[in-house]
Amino acid sequence: MKILAIETSCDDTGIAILDVRKDNSFKVLSNIVSSQIKVHAKYGGVYPVMAKREHQRNLAPVLQKALEKAMLLKVQKLEISSKKLEVLNKILEREPELAKKLISFFKKYRKPNIDLIAVTNGPGLEPCLWVGVNFAKAISYFWNIPIVDVNHIKAHIFVNMLGDKKIKELKQKDFPALCLVVSGGHTQLFLMRDLGKYEIIGETRDDAAGECFDKCAKILDLGYPGGPIISKLAQKSDRSPTPIKLPRPMINTKDYDFSFSGLKTAVLYADRKVKIKNAKYKKEMASEIQQAIIDVLIKKTLKAVKDFNVKTLILGGGVTANKELKKQFATAVKNLIIQRVELFVPPANLSTDNALMTAVAGYFRRNKKIAWQKLEANANLRVE
Ligand code: KG4
Ligand code: ZN
Repeated sequence: MKILAIETSCDDTGIAILDVRKDNSFKVLSNIVSSQIKVHAKYGGVYPVMAKREHQRNLAPVLQKALEKAMLLKVQKLEISSKKLEVLNKILEREPELAKKLISFFKKYRKPNIDLIAVTNGPGLEPCLWVGVNFAKAISYFWNIPIVDVNHIKAHIFVNMLGDKKIKELKQKDFPALCLVVSGGHTQLFLMRDLGKYEIIGETRDDAAGECFDKCAKILDLGYPGGPIISKLAQKSDRSPTPIKLPRPMINTKDYDFSFSGLKTAVLYADRKVKIKNAKYKKEMASEIQQAIIDVLIKKTLKAVKDFNVKTLILGGGVTANKELKKQFATAVKNLIIQRVELFVPPANLSTDNALMTAVAGYFRRNKKIAWQKLEANANLRVE
């Protein structure tokens, strides 16, 4: 079964093609991500309207690349009836630039051998989600391929199907599992009593962990996105622990919630007091920001691990690209005294947004196909 997946929830335009063989093994045929970092870097954050415009521009070329890489792109000239053109233009009436590009694509290339379309329909930035959803609808209609909608947060968890250790091999004895999703938009803890059965037990009350990295980097004038920049700078810091001390908000509360906005404010005030902002200062500050975030994430997650007698811990989301976070989580889990917990972290290149994770999550929803006419984006979609 070949799945074509589309991801446009934030500022990455992703299209992937995944082949699921008869023995249920996965073969990645392509995974193309067109990043908009350059467009958003000068503003220090993502502007939804601009991101939507970029998705409109990128989707058809990214589709072409993804099909080409998967060896599924075949040239074949085609006349499109005025009735079909009318439907396509109606589906993409809010994305006229995309409509034009996609229609010329349809006129040039043959229908590829794809069995299912999977598209992220939430949560995320509303205008961005709609571009991907409308694009998926247009393809589904024109090529007559069934479609499934995919929750972006679940996709961050399901990407762990692609690592060396696979969460699909989990047995009943490996539950309950706990999932920590840490991204630019979300910081949530889910208890999973069985594969795919979620219960939210904690989440951030304000900023997400990735958002905190991004906002702190903006305060320090380091660039965007903040996570990878801060993590690189922190690696270069030779003084650990650093002389700068930042708070660890909510680290000792009894619940499993998080709060990161106070940390960002503390960084702002600390930075105002510093006169000479040399390279040494920036490295130390980066190292302390990173450690403050890691400390809170690990403490709260391990509290839940102990309280719920968790057997498996699954991490997901852009922030899990952070090497120090992965290292410290591995050590913390290894050092648990009474419990043995198996830790899953996404493959290095698949932590941040990509459509391959959408494809994998889509595969597990293959029996939940919906008519393209019924598909809608939902910026506030929750995990249930
Ligand atoms: O999952 P993702 O790609 O997009 C959302 O769904 O939000 O996550 C993006 C977030 C950004 O905030 C980015 O700064 C952060 O992940 N991030 C990192 C690292 N790489 C990306 N944070 C810390 N360390 C990293 N190496
Ligand atoms: Zn994401």
